[in-house]
Amino acid sequence: MAIIPEVRPMSYSRGEITTFVMPHMQNVLGDLFGGHLMALVDQAAAVAAIRHCGGRAVTAAIDRVDFKARIPVGSLVTCIATVDCVGNSSMDITVEVTAEDPSTGEKRHTHTAHAVFVAIDEHGKPKRVPRLRADTPEERERMARAEAHRARMRQ
Ligand SMILES: CC(C)(COP(=O)(O)OP(=O)(O)OC[C@H]1O[C@@H](n2cnc3c(N)ncnc32)[C@H](O)[C@@H]1OP(=O)(O)O)[C@@H](O)C(=O)NCCC(=O)NCCS
Repeated sequence: MAIIPEVRPMSYSRGEITTFVMPHMQNVLGDLFGGHLMALVDQAAAVAAIRHCGGRAVTAAIDRVDFKARIPVGSLVTCIATVDCVGNSSMDITVEVTAEDPSTGEKRHTHTAHAVFVAIDEHGKPKRVPRLRADTPEERERMARAEAHRARMRQ
C-alpha cells in the first residue's frame, strides 16, 4: 500500500478530462446538455480529490457553476480541476472548463465550477487528508481565494 505523505504540492493532484461533444450529449438547442457538463466537472474534480488524498473521496457539494457560454456539439471540452484548499477531511476544488473548435483550434473559457470532496476511509467515514502546499504566486493566490470562499460558505 502506498504511503500517504503529510503534505502534497498543489501541482500533484491536478486532474484533466477531455471529451468530444457527441450528438447524444446535446440539449434541445444543439449545445452540450448542462447535466453532462456537471458529470464531467464531477469526474475531473474526483480525479483531483483522489490524487490528493491518495484514496477514496466522495462529492459532498457542488456549490457553484457559472455557465458563461454555450458549448456546441462537435466541440472538444476540457475540464481542469485543482485542489485549492483543504480542511481536515474536505478538499475545495475548482474546475475550469474550456471548449475548443477542433476545426480551427480556437479555445474559449466557458465555465467555472466549485466542488467540495471529502476523503473517506473503508467504513465511509471522513478521513484526514494531506496538507496542501502552494509553490508559486499563482497557486498562493488560488489558495487564498479558496480559503476566503470556504470561510464565506461556512458562515
Ligand atoms: C460527505 C460525507 C462523507 C460527510 O460525512 P459526515 O459524517 O457528514 O461528515 P462531517 O459532518 O463530520 O464532515 C466531514 C467534512 O466534510 C465537510 N462537509 C460535509 N458536508 C459538506 C457539504 N455539504 N459541503 C461542504 N463540506 C461538507 C465538513 O465541513 C467536514 O470538513 P473537514 O473535515 O475538512 O472539517 C457524507 O455526508 C456522505 O457520505 N455523503 C454522501 C456522498 C455521496 O454519496 N456523494 C455522491 C457520490 S460520490
